[in-house]
Amino acid sequence: MIRRSAMAFSLMLLAGGTALAATAPAARQSILDHYAAEARKTDAGFKGFSAAAGQAFFLAHPGTGRPETPSCSTCHTNSPRNQGRTRAGKTLAPMAVSLSPSRFTDLAKVRKWFARNCHTVYGRVCTPVEKGNFITFMAHQ
Ligand code: HEC
Repeated sequence: MIRRSAMAFSLMLLAGGTALAATAPAARQSILDHYAAEARKTDAGFKGFSAAAGQAFFLAHPGTGRPETPSCSTCHTNSPRNQGRTRAGKTLAPMAVSLSPSRFTDLAKVRKWFARNCHTVYGRVCTPVEKGNFITFMAHQ
C-alpha cells in the first residue's frame, strides 16, 4: 500500500515535470500570437515574424534614443548567449531561450521591458512586428 502511493507520487512528479516543460513554449507562443494579432490589425498582409529582422533590430544602433543606451546590445551584449549587464552593473541572464527557458513567457514582464527599453534605445514604442521578430530571434538562439 505504502509502495503503491509512493509510486503514484513519483508518477505525479513525472507528470508535473512534463507539464512544466511544456508550459514555457506554450506561454511564449501565446505571446507571439498576441503580437501577430496586433500586427494584423494594421497590416492585413502580415505574413509572420522574421528571426533575421529580429537580429538586426537587436544589434541596431538607431541613434534615436538616449546616448548612454545606443543599442539593445548595450545591456544584453551583442550575443544573446552571453550574460548581460545593466549600466549599474547588475548581471542579466542570457536572452537566448535555449539558455534561459523562462524568457518571454510572462506577457506583463515582456510588455514592461519592451516599453522601457524601446524608449531608451529607440526613443519610441516598438511595433508589434518588431516585438514578434525580436522574440522569434531569441527563441531560435
Ligand atoms: C539599460 C539596459 C538595457 C537595455 C539597453 C535593454 N535592455 Fe532589455 N532588459 C534590461 C533589464 C534590466 C531587463 C529585466 C531583467 C531581465 O529580464 O534580465 C530586461 C529585460 C528585457 C525583456 C524581458 C525578457 C523576458 O524575460 O521576458 C525584453 C523583451 C527586453 N529586455 C527587450 C529589450 C530590447 C528589445 C532592447 C532594445 C530595444 C533592450 N531590451 C535593451 C535591460 C536593458
